[in-house]
Amino acid sequence: MSNSVKRPLAPCTLDGQPAAEVVVGRMYLVPMVRGLFHYWRRRWPVLGPKHEDADYIGFEHEHYHFDWRFVDRDVFDTLYYDKLDGHILFAWALTDLRNQIPLGPVIWRRRKCHRPMPDFPRHLPMWLLTLEAAYADRVLTDALVCPHRGVALGGLARDTVGCVVCPLHGLRWNLETRRLVRDD
Ligand code: FES
Repeated sequence: MSNSVKRPLAPCTLDGQPAAEVVVGRMYLVPMVRGLFHYWRRRWPVLGPKHEDADYIGFEHEHYHFDWRFVDRDVFDTLYYDKLDGHILFAWALTDLRNQIPLGPVIWRRRKCHRPMPDFPRHLPMWLLTLEAAYADRVLTDALVCPHRGVALGGLARDTVGCVVCPLHGLRWNLETRRLVRDD
């Protein structure tokens, strides 16, 4: 698959079609970026485009978010159980900020889905209320892409009322109504 393909950086089926819902145990084409994170220099599965978050989150350095569903089991288990706890997973991003090693280009690789997307800790980010207010009136298009940073939401498992939580910064969307769902 060419890097010039214009589609959200999210897992695809092996013939390149957007995954309707990513299923644990199946193989997908996954966007990957080489970089150094927590002792491991390797290609990491990423979700969504490279971006900065200076506006609502106060992180002005360009970075990618990990697609935790496709991170190798040994690395994930070390991060999740030994070094970090599950909540902190979402606070980490792949960036060249600390190590000065440039992030590689996006390369698509066949990868197995090892796990569902971990739950985003929506009770933790102090900026989430501000972000929700900024996107309260937005409506998703048919592409089901989060309007904040352009992340494909269609491959995520929906809850019982049709909602998904964007795994980048925690906005919750109802994929049936296409509207933002707030906790208040
Ligand atoms: S990309 Fe930021 S909440 Fe979806």
